[in-house]
Amino acid sequence: MDNLLISATIEYVKEVFATDFSGHDFFHTMRVYQMATKIAMEEKADLQIVQLAALLHDVDDRKLSPETCENKDRAVAYMRSQGLPEGMIVRVKDIIGEVSFAGTDSVVPKTLEGKCVQDADRLDALGAMGIARAFAYGGNHNRVMYDPEIPPALNMGKEEYQNHVSTTVNHFYEKLFLLKDMMNTGCAKRIAGHREQYMKEYIDEFLAEWDGTR
Ligand code: ADP
Ligand code: NI
Repeated sequence: MDNLLISATIEYVKEVFATDFSGHDFFHTMRVYQMATKIAMEEKADLQIVQLAALLHDVDDRKLSPETCENKDRAVAYMRSQGLPEGMIVRVKDIIGEVSFAGTDSVVPKTLEGKCVQDADRLDALGAMGIARAFAYGGNHNRVMYDPEIPPALNMGKEEYQNHVSTTVNHFYEKLFLLKDMMNTGCAKRIAGHREQYMKEYIDEFLAEWDGTR
């Protein structure tokens, strides 16, 4: 039953993300699912809940589906269609509600399972994958890569962060370089350290080439 549910959910998210090119695609969901599984095994969290929440974490994303974001309607409807117990649906819905980065208003998930999913989602915004996703997102939203005249905005709360329009390089300072210290689990902290280092080297190179010093 468990594996059947997971494979059905993979098919469902494949359909949901078939037309997304903003860095929020099906493969992002699959990487989060795989990373969340790895973290959950190390942390001895409830694997079924973690895997389901990881697979469904973006189907009601604010940018993708603003009208269902508040109550996670699509995830809940999907889980109901699979006949899952109400208690399980609520657990998964609560985890999805806590996952997003919201500047200084970001929340620490209440449960170990939530911590695993949040860490896995955030790890996918770091490292080589994070760099690729940031520039893909920037292009998809018609943002300039960099403008030395526009400084990054620091310490933004949820409202400000969500309405903020800036450059892609600024996004590294406004979100990505903050994530390592926000990781919940030991496993994710280790991986985040390596990925952040790689991104910092990349931004150093980018700015040196921009300035003509390399
Ligand atoms: P998630 O919750 O899956 O991390 P987000 O919606 O916050 O998703 O972002 C999706 C991807 O797009 C992430 O890799 C994120 O870093 C990137 N992204 C989000 N906002 C911006 C932005 N303003 N500029 C560049 N990249 C962004
Ligand atoms: Ni995500």
